[in-house]
Amino acid sequence: MLSLDVKIPKKEYKIHIGKKLFDEADTLLKDFCCGKKVCIVSDSNVFPLYGEKVEAAVKGAGGDVFSLVVKAGEEAKSFENLEYLCREIIRHDFTRSDVIIALGGGVVGDLTAFCASVVLRGVTLIQLPTTLLSQVDSSVGGKTAVNIPEGKNLVGTFYQPKMVLIDTDTLKTLPPREVACGMAEVIKYGAIRDKKLAEDLLRGDFEIENVIATCCRIKASIVENDEHDKGERMLLNFGHTLGHAVENYTGYGTYSHGAAVAIGMCAITEWSEKSGITEKGTYAMIKKLCEKYDLPTHIDNLAGMTGAAMHDKKRSGSKISIVLVKSMGDSYYEKVDVALLESIAKG
Ligand code: NAD
Ligand code: GLY
Repeated sequence: MLSLDVKIPKKEYKIHIGKKLFDEADTLLKDFCCGKKVCIVSDSNVFPLYGEKVEAAVKGAGGDVFSLVVKAGEEAKSFENLEYLCREIIRHDFTRSDVIIALGGGVVGDLTAFCASVVLRGVTLIQLPTTLLSQVDSSVGGKTAVNIPEGKNLVGTFYQPKMVLIDTDTLKTLPPREVACGMAEVIKYGAIRDKKLAEDLLRGDFEIENVIATCCRIKASIVENDEHDKGERMLLNFGHTLGHAVENYTGYGTYSHGAAVAIGMCAITEWSEKSGITEKGTYAMIKKLCEKYDLPTHIDNLAGMTGAAMHDKKRSGSKISIVLVKSMGDSYYEKVDVALLESIAKG
């Protein structure tokens, strides 16, 4: 098992990563769950696979457990489900010292974390992420959200978990499209912060536990410096502005989030390399990485999709933050006019 610390002052927590970690989760959960009511929130795909095991671990840790299951899919990040969870939790006589566990991908993680941050004005949250994307990204750092008809993730809070437990064996049941989706975020970490990670990925020479730990370490260091997304944390949006435009224009779900981000990372780097901002060869490397991990690298008419950026959360007035890679592993962000996105997308 690998263990890392997230050192946000007064909100420190540990991330534990390993094979079959849910089998020994009772020991890790004891400090938080012994003598507490514990609510596991999961979705209709994940609960049948891992619910029983995690319930047993909570009981083994001395917790009094019950589970709530929402229908799998992005639509689960709704105010309706938030209300459902809050009301069920209160009906179970929860107190502020009780515990909520998110067992699932980023959808369950974001929804459950939002609930934990507001029910009784905040109860203990533990993340048990089961997708690659949630293991390398969404379970760490404390962003919570639900979607509204006006857009994705437009309502949420910052609320850090008290622990993150990553059982990498859960990836064995993950559909290939979801693995590829997570790999886009892994490639992102290599591009923005870690050339060696990118090289290892290109050779295909790695243990997934180590890759997840590397990504979590990068995310933790960024969030430690900028918990509330005012500066450095924006680096995590590499490829995301154009990616969101693709998702928005093509209709959410047509391209997975990871696929859209891959297109975004390739497009912006092709442009920045042509513009002399990025070291030669960087675009080719990002493109090769995306191809190797079954991600698209191009979409026709990307420039025609950039109007969607007007609704992007990262926009402020006519400006929007974009992330540029100087060379593999070295990145920065800057505010540009939204109109520039169209030129970037043209390549
Ligand atoms: P997801 O939670 O919808 O999971 C993808 C699919 O895989 C779902 O059908 C789910 O039921 C299924 N699944 C999950 N684990 C499984 C397993 N081990 N075996 C089999 N099936 C499994 O999607 P996701 O990609 O994990 O997360 C996407 C969400 O994360 C989006 O809502 C996005 O906005 C959010 N997100 C949040 C942050 C953050 O910092 N909070 C960062 C990135 C993304
Ligand atoms: N995934 C973006 C962030 O956590 O800031």
